[in-house]
Amino acid sequence: MPDRTRPQERPGAGAWVPQSLSLRSLRQAAQECRGCELYRDATQAVMGDGRVDAELMLLGEQPGDREDREGEPFVGPAGKVLDEALVEVGISPAEVYITNVVKHFRWSGTRGKQRIHQSPSRAHVAACGPWLEAELRLVRPTGVVLLGGTAGKAVYGAGFRVGESRGRVRDWPASFAVARPPAWVLATTHPSAVLRAEDRRSAYEGLVADLRVAADRLISPT
Ligand code: URA
Ligand code: SF4
Repeated sequence: MPDRTRPQERPGAGAWVPQSLSLRSLRQAAQECRGCELYRDATQAVMGDGRVDAELMLLGEQPGDREDREGEPFVGPAGKVLDEALVEVGISPAEVYITNVVKHFRWSGTRGKQRIHQSPSRAHVAACGPWLEAELRLVRPTGVVLLGGTAGKAVYGAGFRVGESRGRVRDWPASFAVARPPAWVLATTHPSAVLRAEDRRSAYEGLVADLRVAADRLISPT
């Protein structure tokens, strides 16, 4: 369905981002955000979670059905795949910071009890950007892993393609201004793509191989 929201209804999240940054302040403030219309159909905003002193930040797309209900990122099936892959390459899920490009669940229609995920548009990603910027300022990660196309496009722009970029260490782009840019970025497939793949096993192995490149970059992989 086309987006019929008028631009003035999408002022962007900037005005809701608090001055004093902490996980708590971000989480609380995001509940009030009206930066775009996605808050209307979601249960709550899902801010990132994990260690604020993490070396590694993982960036997904948007909360899913489970995340929307529980208020935590990557607690559903995709998160399970991701955690398993992280552990396999020696990265403890407890050591990272994990978040999404968009903080409210966008969905359209239902299948049984489950609401059907709809990817956020570029306008939603842009509107929600100030939250991600704030998280980058708070966590100041050394490395960032981009999970899938939406995260890739949010950082590198519309021309980004996961298939062409995955598994290679890249620089943080100058076009995305942050106070202390991460030293490196690595893109990989989204863990939910593993769940959808015809050959799940090889899709999973691909995710693990990419994450291994990130693990090798970390100074002290656990
Ligand atoms: N997919 C995402 O991109 N993020 C989540 O938090 C869950 C599923
Ligand atoms: Fe604000 Fe982002 Fe939610 Fe839109 S999706 S209301 S910008 S937190």
